[in-house]
Amino acid sequence: MAHSDPQTPLESRSCGPLAGKVRVPGDKSISHRALILGALAVGETRISGLLEGEDVLNTAKSMRALGARVERTGPFAWSVSGVGVGGFAEPAAALDFGNSGTGCRLVMGAVAGCPITAVFDGDSSLRSRPMRRILDPLELMGARTRDIREGGRLPLTLSGARYPVPLVYKTPVASAQIKSAVLLAGLSAPGVTTVIEQEASRDHTELMLRHFGAEVSSVKEGSHGRRISLQGEPELHGAAVVVPADPSSAAFPIVAALIVEGSDVVLSDVMTNPLRTGLFATLREMGASIEESDARGDAGEPMAQLRVRHSKLRGVEVPPERAPSMIDEYLVLAVAASFAEGTTIMRGLKELRVKESDRLEATADMLRVNGVNVEVSGDDLIVEGRGHVPGGGLVATHMDHRIAMSALVMGCASDKPVKVDDTAFIATSFPDFIPMMRSLGAELS
Ligand code: S3P
Repeated sequence: MAHSDPQTPLESRSCGPLAGKVRVPGDKSISHRALILGALAVGETRISGLLEGEDVLNTAKSMRALGARVERTGPFAWSVSGVGVGGFAEPAAALDFGNSGTGCRLVMGAVAGCPITAVFDGDSSLRSRPMRRILDPLELMGARTRDIREGGRLPLTLSGARYPVPLVYKTPVASAQIKSAVLLAGLSAPGVTTVIEQEASRDHTELMLRHFGAEVSSVKEGSHGRRISLQGEPELHGAAVVVPADPSSAAFPIVAALIVEGSDVVLSDVMTNPLRTGLFATLREMGASIEESDARGDAGEPMAQLRVRHSKLRGVEVPPERAPSMIDEYLVLAVAASFAEGTTIMRGLKELRVKESDRLEATADMLRVNGVNVEVSGDDLIVEGRGHVPGGGLVATHMDHRIAMSALVMGCASDKPVKVDDTAFIATSFPDFIPMMRSLGAELS
């Protein structure tokens, strides 16, 4: 989606109880990984429940451009026939990842282990995001980069290594994208590639690599970290992947149900990998009624049905070490915190500054224009909850899907309507957000 596309504003008004059972779309992180590993495997990978949002569709296109056969076989059902580890073909044109940092960074890792050259590009939001953090380890493994704008920004040209070197790499920030890029490049390296992270980040790449036949170990490192080792040059074989519902997307109807009086909403198949459920833990500490049932798993990823009922929330302090397990959820947590009684302090949010937008400032602005007292203090966000939100503000979405959805959730229970300037980017991760919220009773127009 280009920023020059016409903006599509929307208003959210206070509504009656939200009710019903829904399945939010497939997990974005797992969808990207299933396409990429499918493209690097030998044989067919059948994916069901793929997120058909723009971010993931751009990854599918890039896998095709790199030589894999990628076909949609039915609603949310996809088939990928891969080229084998190290087998990517040189793409004829630039790979355009649109708004997606995850797609772009993971594919950089996969390309870094192949002797080809590819140009990486994206929209103006992605062009403003830092890539050095990914390129540094990939260069240590033998990849070369050119045309890098100041600060390591897109567009850039990456030439993969003919003989990638296995690496022991300590990530400078807790980022699953950095870890995954290094592991994907390490697939083509002889010997063991190791990533050490100070704080454990989402482990979908490790779990899925194992599911496709790679040897990956993961052990604790320090009090919150992990040491992950991959045996290089495995034969990855095509596999069946069932994509569970995305907890980061479920976060929006969950918070909406918590703040709208009388609500009772059920969400099916929500992924409950503990490295993704920091928001649920925090909301429960705030007094939220979120009941789990029907717990099961597929390919190492647990999932469950969640029943969420309107709850009186109270302010809490969220420790910095929880950030990696809820990094995409602070915006909507800030909305919940605005409706709580008391102050919520969210600590250690530096990484929010380099997401689809500067989410720390954008979240504070979203609350401020709607009459909530909020403060950014260093890397902390402090929200003063007063049990209700005045609303009446126009929220700037900055090409960021999660700001748009968080603001629309806020409007479901605020005194006056909340308006967003642009809903177009919601399609990157949750194409049916607006009709799904309406089906639960939200008043969006
Ligand atoms: C993702 C990792 C996170 C997250 C992003 C998805 C992934 O980024 O914000 O939406 O799928 O690996 P970082 O790992 O850079 O924190």
